[in-house]
Amino acid sequence: MTTDNRSTLFSPLTLPTPDGTGFALRNRTILSPMCQYAVDRQDGVATDWHLQHYGAVAAGGFGLLTIESTGVNAAGRISPRDLGMYNETQEAAHRRLVSFIHSQGAAAAVQLNHAGGRASGKPWLPGTHGGSAPLEDGGWQTVGMTDQSIAKGYRPTTKLSKDGIEQIVSDFAAAARRADAAGYDVIQIHAAHGYLLHQSLSPLTNTRDDKYGGTEENRFRLTREVVDAVRAAWPDSKPLGIRISATDWVAGGLDVDVTSRLMRDLVKNHGINWVDVSSGGLVSTPLQPSGPGFHAVLGAQIKRALADTDAVVSVVGGISSPEQAETMLRTGQVDAVSIGRAAMRNPHWPAMAAARLGVPCEDNPAAPQYWRAEW
Ligand SMILES: Cc1cc2nc3c(=O)[nH]c(=O)nc-3n(C[C@H](O)[C@H](O)[C@H](O)COP(=O)(O)O)c2cc1C
Repeated sequence: MTTDNRSTLFSPLTLPTPDGTGFALRNRTILSPMCQYAVDRQDGVATDWHLQHYGAVAAGGFGLLTIESTGVNAAGRISPRDLGMYNETQEAAHRRLVSFIHSQGAAAAVQLNHAGGRASGKPWLPGTHGGSAPLEDGGWQTVGMTDQSIAKGYRPTTKLSKDGIEQIVSDFAAAARRADAAGYDVIQIHAAHGYLLHQSLSPLTNTRDDKYGGTEENRFRLTREVVDAVRAAWPDSKPLGIRISATDWVAGGLDVDVTSRLMRDLVKNHGINWVDVSSGGLVSTPLQPSGPGFHAVLGAQIKRALADTDAVVSVVGGISSPEQAETMLRTGQVDAVSIGRAAMRNPHWPAMAAARLGVPCEDNPAAPQYWRAEW
């Protein structure tokens, strides 16, 4: 709890790093990762759309931009129109994005993902949010922890062998090396929202009986292996984050006690420095909440579970009011806020929020070109 009357949201934040130097963000506003489904040729390469989209958000004053879910291999992309991080052309296009983001004083994170049974989707088509893209539209046969379909409308997956799992772990590490070469400051591993790592963590979807399924220890194994492989491939001077669905909102699924245990282990023993708290996305349930700050309590619970560590905890979900974000930070619920849809509506959300919270003009993080906008 702070007693300083200056904005906490617009105070700097240091993400810890294994080498002890830490990585400073100019403020505590984080762009939440949001797929744009805007790749032109189904080749995983960022386009001018990505440059203008992330460029506007960087100019709008965010401290850290988390670039959308990016496939660690072609089969792991959520859709044929997703970004990838598995070849040189993709790496070069990421470098262009990162360079512009840095020129605006913001830091850049990339969310590395394997979508498992939710890969090859068609989420860009209005009214057909879920389900597999047909093969003739660029879809592909997916792989997963089991040979079952992950949800209505998705094709059954090919069950991953031990070798197949090891290949994915090594693809995460290779993507981390490319992310470093592209200039990213931070990696966020996607372990939320029903994709491969979440599929492996939850007893609702992981029915394997080998060392990757069954007990909690076994269900945690793939995520631990991915974190270890990425940490080993990623410099000790750079922070490593993870996004987690803190609960499945379903009896018998993940709950916040289980995910708190996992986060404590990953922070204390496996080099995770930043935890971004979300929920759900694995199975459809009417219990999934929405509304202003709908994950705030979960964020605060994970933050408490990590109180004896130096990890930074952020939370996402329905945060659009600057005053609400400020209150969440001032009362110590979390260290930073991730902003999703509010940033689509207004890419200059931080500039607006800073003005509303009384941050002096000269400290407003907006691009100088926009200082006369009278926020
Ligand atoms: C168009 C769209 C794309 C999204 N893509 C991703 C993604 O790539 N990775 C991810 O973790 N979450 C993704 N999300 C979820 C958001 O990051 C965020 O968690 C969610 O929208 C709730 O936060 P909000 O209320 O601030 O929007 C997406 C959401 C939207 C609306």
